[in-house]
Amino acid sequence: MKTQYYTAATLDGFIADEHNSLDWLFQFGADPEGVGDTGFSDFMREVGAVAMGSTTYQWMLDHEVRPQDRPAKPWPYTQPTWVFSSREQPRVDGADLRFARGDVRPVHAEMAAAAGGRNVWLVGGGDLVGQFHDHGLLNEVIVSIAPVTLGRGAPLLPRRITTPPLRLREVRGLGDAFVRIRYEVAKKTGTGR
Ligand SMILES: NC(=O)c1ccc[n+]([C@@H]2O[C@H](COP(=O)([O-])OP(=O)(O)OC[C@H]3O[C@@H](n4cnc5c(N)ncnc54)[C@H](OP(=O)(O)O)[C@@H]3O)[C@@H](O)[C@H]2O)c1
Repeated sequence: MKTQYYTAATLDGFIADEHNSLDWLFQFGADPEGVGDTGFSDFMREVGAVAMGSTTYQWMLDHEVRPQDRPAKPWPYTQPTWVFSSREQPRVDGADLRFARGDVRPVHAEMAAAAGGRNVWLVGGGDLVGQFHDHGLLNEVIVSIAPVTLGRGAPLLPRRITTPPLRLREVRGLGDAFVRIRYEVAKKTGTGR
């Protein structure tokens, strides 16, 4: 069982702009990374539990589940999904959503149990993933890098991870725009912040 952060980011390390827009990503198409041939569905088959913060959850409600300008879509994940928030959040019919707050450690234990040997996917944002890393609970960072920069926005992983550095495990070009890198997180020896 691995705990993996899988996301797309700009070359300068942002996963959304300062208005939580992903237009920079979706300009490459509805399937920006070319999901069909990048192994994302293989990745998802190995995922047994999902976690995200409330901004990401709200983005999914606004853009996927209940968009104002397009037909609504069902919640996309069959795996149980933990949404971290200190506030009451709207629910989605038919979705296995579990709401959590505070210390990520007991939540991670619940997720691992629910995943039943499959992986835990941390969707984001970056600080939430950092909270898992703070407790040595992050195993892999998989990032599809888009050939754009934003200058500011939601950071990919706002932590200082220097020694030991991440270990490069895979690099792959996706079409003529993206490159996907997979890093393994080495066991932490310092505080990492
Ligand atoms: N490029 C991509 O593929 C990709 C992937 C994922 C996300 N995104 C985008 O990136 C942006 C990320 O937004 P973000 O940086 O604000 O991160 P986020 O993790 O989505 O949301 C952060 C919020 O989650 C809640 N939270 C986090 N940890 C918590 C904890 N331990 N206990 C309780 N609540 C906690 C807090 O909000 P409250 O307590 O106030 O609710 C916090 O302000 C979003 O726009 C998202 O759509 C992009």
